[in-house]
Amino acid sequence: MCGIVGYVGFRSVADILLDGLEQLEYRGYDSSGIAVKCDNDIKVYKAVGKLKNLREELKSHVKEFEKSTMGIGHIRWATHGAPTVLNAHPHTCTHGNLVLVHNGIIENYKELRAELEKEGCVFKSQTDTEVAAHFIAKKYDETHDLTEAVRLASKEIEGAYALCVMHNDYKDTIVATKRNAPLLVGIGEGEYLIASDVPAIIKYTKKAMYLSENQIVTVTPDSMKLIDKDGNEVQPKIELLPWEPVALSKMGYKHFMLKEIHEQPDVIRNILVGKLHTAAEPVILDEVKLTKDTLKKLTRIQIIACGTSLHAAMVGKYLLETFCGIAVDVEASSEYIYRRTVTDEHTLVIGVSQSGETADTLTAIKQAKARGSHILIITNRPDSSMAREADSLLSVNAGIEVSVAATKSYIAQLMAFYLLALYMAEIKGSTDKSIIQSIKNELMILPQKIEQVLANTDEIQKCARKYSNTKDFIYIARGINLPTALEGALKLKEISYINATGYAAGELKHGPIAMLDDTMPVLSILMKGIVYDKLLSNSEEAKARNARMIALTNSNDPKLEDLFECIIRVPEVQEFLSPIIAVIPLQLIAYYIAEFLGKDVDQPRNLAKSVTVE
Ligand code: G6P
Repeated sequence: MCGIVGYVGFRSVADILLDGLEQLEYRGYDSSGIAVKCDNDIKVYKAVGKLKNLREELKSHVKEFEKSTMGIGHIRWATHGAPTVLNAHPHTCTHGNLVLVHNGIIENYKELRAELEKEGCVFKSQTDTEVAAHFIAKKYDETHDLTEAVRLASKEIEGAYALCVMHNDYKDTIVATKRNAPLLVGIGEGEYLIASDVPAIIKYTKKAMYLSENQIVTVTPDSMKLIDKDGNEVQPKIELLPWEPVALSKMGYKHFMLKEIHEQPDVIRNILVGKLHTAAEPVILDEVKLTKDTLKKLTRIQIIACGTSLHAAMVGKYLLETFCGIAVDVEASSEYIYRRTVTDEHTLVIGVSQSGETADTLTAIKQAKARGSHILIITNRPDSSMAREADSLLSVNAGIEVSVAATKSYIAQLMAFYLLALYMAEIKGSTDKSIIQSIKNELMILPQKIEQVLANTDEIQKCARKYSNTKDFIYIARGINLPTALEGALKLKEISYINATGYAAGELKHGPIAMLDDTMPVLSILMKGIVYDKLLSNSEEAKARNARMIALTNSNDPKLEDLFECIIRVPEVQEFLSPIIAVIPLQLIAYYIAEFLGKDVDQPRNLAKSVTVE
């Protein structure tokens, strides 16, 4: 998290930095700041809260920086030190000559800080970042060369970082480096941009270079030099970004989240293009680079992911085990990386990530790759760090997702798993052809069914209003919809801050049932299929404890009327496909509750869309 931008060229820099930071707001939004090179010094401006506060702050200083053509900017998601002006970036060395912005976590900051304080450095913030400013300044005092100072300092800085550095002695030079955090350089005519992500630069240039680990780049308006950690010059790999500048618009919806929920039918249509033509034809997944023979012999799959992507992975497990008969483990990336895992060259490892940048998942993927596993990445960002690690890359094409709460990218990830499971099942011959064909037929008409749900949200809104004052919320489900319950609960927590939890319904009686009384809403995801009757019994048990029962169902079973005080209906689909349709009303319930409560739906407190720290 945190977004960084740098610019050196001929344009008025403040606008470019602010525009860039706005595009990176998904990475954090608790404070922001810019540093710009003015005639004889570097001026730093910061503000707490959303970027609009920084824009406001800058209004009274325009005269000071309007001619400046070089600067760096930062949007923060606090890790070390509260979101205050002092902790906001850019940070400076004791005398203010060296200024930098940072994304990542410097792990040995305490040791470095103690050392630097002994040497007389005066610290102003509680951040880990500030040590980098003092430490690089120290190396600069020894070398009088900013690139060399950055290179020497980064040898001793531990942890993850993308850094953009300026020094008062240089009127038109920025030095940047990275380790385990994304950074790219945009190459223009007489200008260079540096940023954490493409949207911050794409308005100005499509020509870019991604920095590799530990490389250091030095840019002036008309030059770029790239070196490795040992100081050897490296030939930059310049590429043309397959991106168009997009004006991010809510298209008339009140929030991006609502717009993205409504985009889901098209997300499904998009991902099917070229992969699923008719039910009779095999699924085409040229993206999967494993040979058919290796696929047939696979005995183990591990899927690693975080957050919403982890829930998609859980549905993936269900599908791959059911249709392909392969053992699948699903694990949160943060748990995978600090233990001995049984991962080797016979294991297919699937990383799932909307952003392709989540630090825990990226680290896990790199570990698995080092053990010789084939890495399949399912991501919405084919240009991301994870995509660059992939042996097989399944790009889900959901389009830019702005709202921090993931919705359409979840549906796209689910679709990727359906396609993958069917593709593998067809190669292995592990599932009856008629079952595969019926799933394919339904997949192709799912968009219309979701459109039906989206066209009539009255009951969902009524239900959301009814329960919007609750403090807690329980979601129960079984089988393939357990991840749906977890995802529904996660959506509600994320944007309304209500304490919502998803449970395997069979587990209710082993503890959670103790919490039930007439204040507790329990939403039961009752999709027709093998667990329907069991879940109905679990719902009765909850009702018997006076819980306020809500059903999300595709059944017209008259028994439901007595049991549930609120019933949300979705069109009928076969059980295997029900996670796709069942999650839609849950996204909407979370959305409407948050909206009734007046919460900041698209940018909920404490969250960031891309979590680039472990
Ligand atoms: C953050 C986001 C979540 C997301 C998770 C994993 O926590 O707020 O919406 O599910 O990261 O992100 P990824 O990009 O790896 O899917």
